[in-house]
Amino acid sequence: SPPAIIAPSILSADFAALGQACSDTMNQGADWLHVDIMDGHFVPNITFGAPVVGKIRPHVSKPTAKFGRGTFDCHMMISEPMRWVSTFAKAGADLYCFHYEAAIDSVAATEPEDADTKTPCDPKMLIRHIHDLGLAAGIAIKPDTSVDVLWDILEASDPMERPDMVLVMTVYPGFGGQKFMASELPKVKQLREKYPDLNIEVDGGLGEGTIEQAAEAGANVIVAGSAVFGADDPSKVIGILRESVDK
Ligand code: DX5
Ligand code: ZN
Repeated sequence: SPPAIIAPSILSADFAALGQACSDTMNQGADWLHVDIMDGHFVPNITFGAPVVGKIRPHVSKPTAKFGRGTFDCHMMISEPMRWVSTFAKAGADLYCFHYEAAIDSVAATEPEDADTKTPCDPKMLIRHIHDLGLAAGIAIKPDTSVDVLWDILEASDPMERPDMVLVMTVYPGFGGQKFMASELPKVKQLREKYPDLNIEVDGGLGEGTIEQAAEAGANVIVAGSAVFGADDPSKVIGILRESVDK
């Protein structure tokens, strides 16, 4: 697997002091910030949108780093993912990770105010659009979605249409603090067998008790919300997560 990337999810941070929480977690050894965007439609919860992302951007030291320290890993749990890429690019997102399920159920409009079009949003077209706007592209699947939907996208003949990361959800998206679903790890294993260099992210229920199995399956990008923000010593937890992946 590629080196560990530890991405604390700010969903579990103190929203009243978010800028400080973001800079603290980076100083405690995080590589990326995992930024959970929920629209109350694709998932049964609402978090925050681009204005908040823009406000926390200056609190993280290297705003332009891609796939390195300072990366904003925006997990877009939203319907109509193609409409919001430009808005989040302007706000300071580095990686735009959309849900496959939302993409195939949406249209190809590229601005929030665009009129509905009948053109369906093809995931590869969306990945191209994300890359055209200078961001890295991730594609996420929920627990009920088969990993098989991803092969054709990962094999896209044009590299502009291939994702930079796959996110395998290990809980049903919507809330922090849920129980890890080990049932999702065979997806990670299958992806890792075919793609030794792919960034494979796991999200949901990761912590000291579950990291070993996720790392063993081949995940290298580790999201942890409650395990990091709920810890007495977050640096220690980040270190343990990293060691499990890199050993
Ligand atoms: C859930 C979010 C996760 C969440 C993880 O829908 O996508 O990123 O913050 O929280 P923990 O690590 O507490 O399961
Ligand atoms: Zn997430």
